[in-house]
Amino acid sequence: MKRYDVITLFPDMFSALTESGVTGRAEGRGIYDLVCWNPREFADDPRRTVDDRPYGGGAGMVLMADPLVKAIDTAKKRQAGSGVRSSATIYLSPQGRVLTQQLVEEMSSLDGLVLLSGRYEGIDERVIETRVDHEISIGDYVLSGGELPAMVLLDTIIRLLPGVVNHLESVVDESHTSGVLEYPQYTRPEVFEGQRVPDVLLSGHHAQITQWRNEQAKERTRLRRPDLLKNENSEIHTANWSGAQLTKTKG
Ligand SMILES: C[S@@+](CC[C@H](N)C(=O)[O-])C[C@H]1O[C@@H](n2cnc3c(N)ncnc32)[C@H](O)[C@@H]1O
Repeated sequence: MKRYDVITLFPDMFSALTESGVTGRAEGRGIYDLVCWNPREFADDPRRTVDDRPYGGGAGMVLMADPLVKAIDTAKKRQAGSGVRSSATIYLSPQGRVLTQQLVEEMSSLDGLVLLSGRYEGIDERVIETRVDHEISIGDYVLSGGELPAMVLLDTIIRLLPGVVNHLESVVDESHTSGVLEYPQYTRPEVFEGQRVPDVLLSGHHAQITQWRNEQAKERTRLRRPDLLKNENSEIHTANWSGAQLTKTKG
C-alpha cells in the first residue's frame, strides 16, 4: 500500500479525492491511504496560531515554521512506522518545477509522499531549506492554496498505480504518457448529427487502426503542441514506470 500524508489547513478538501471516482475506489480497495495533518494541531498557543507577518514588511501573512515542521516530522514518522522505504517531501509551490507526466511517473514509483500545502503568502523559507526535497508547481499561475495542487499531483499519481485503472492501455496511450497527444476517440452511435465515425475504426483491422491512431496522434500533436515533438522519435509506447529515479527538482 502507498502511504500519502498531506500537511494542510483544510483537510476536508481532500474528501474530493478519497470519496470520488477512480481515486476514491483505489482508496477503498487499500491501494493507498491518505492522512491529513493540520498544522493548527501543532501550534502551541491557545489560539492555535499558524501564521504571522513577514519580516521586512509587505502584504499578507506567512505560515510559521514551527507548526509546519512538527506536522511534517509527525507525517514522516508515520510513514517510517508503516514500512515506507522510499519517500519524498514535496512543497506545492508556484516557484517549483512544473509538473509533467514524466515527473508523475517518477513519483508513482515511491512508497510514500509527504505533501505540503501552503496558504497566504506562502511558508517560512527555513521549512523548505530543512525539510523539503522537491518543490512542484502545477502551472504558471497562482492559486490561493496548495490543496488543489496537492490533489492534482495525487490524482495523476494514483491513476498510474497497478490495479487502479482497469486497462493498462488506457493509461499508456494517453496524452503525454506516450510523448504525443492522444488520437481522437469515438463511441456509439456510428452517425451523430450527420457526422460518421471514421471507417477505419469500424473495419476490425487492428494493424490499420493502430496506424491510423499513430498518424492522428502525431498530426494532432504537430498542430496543437509542436513543442512536444522536439523528440522526433516520439511514438506510442509502453511506459516503464518501475524503478524510475526521481529527478532532482530542487537546488
Ligand atoms: C497565494 S500562494 C503564495 C504565492 C507566493 N506568494 C509566491 O508568489 O510564490 C499560496 C500557496 O498556494 C500554493 N500554490 C499557489 N499556486 C500554485 C501553483 N501554481 N502550483 C503549486 N502550488 C501553488 C502554494 O502552496 C502557496 O504557498
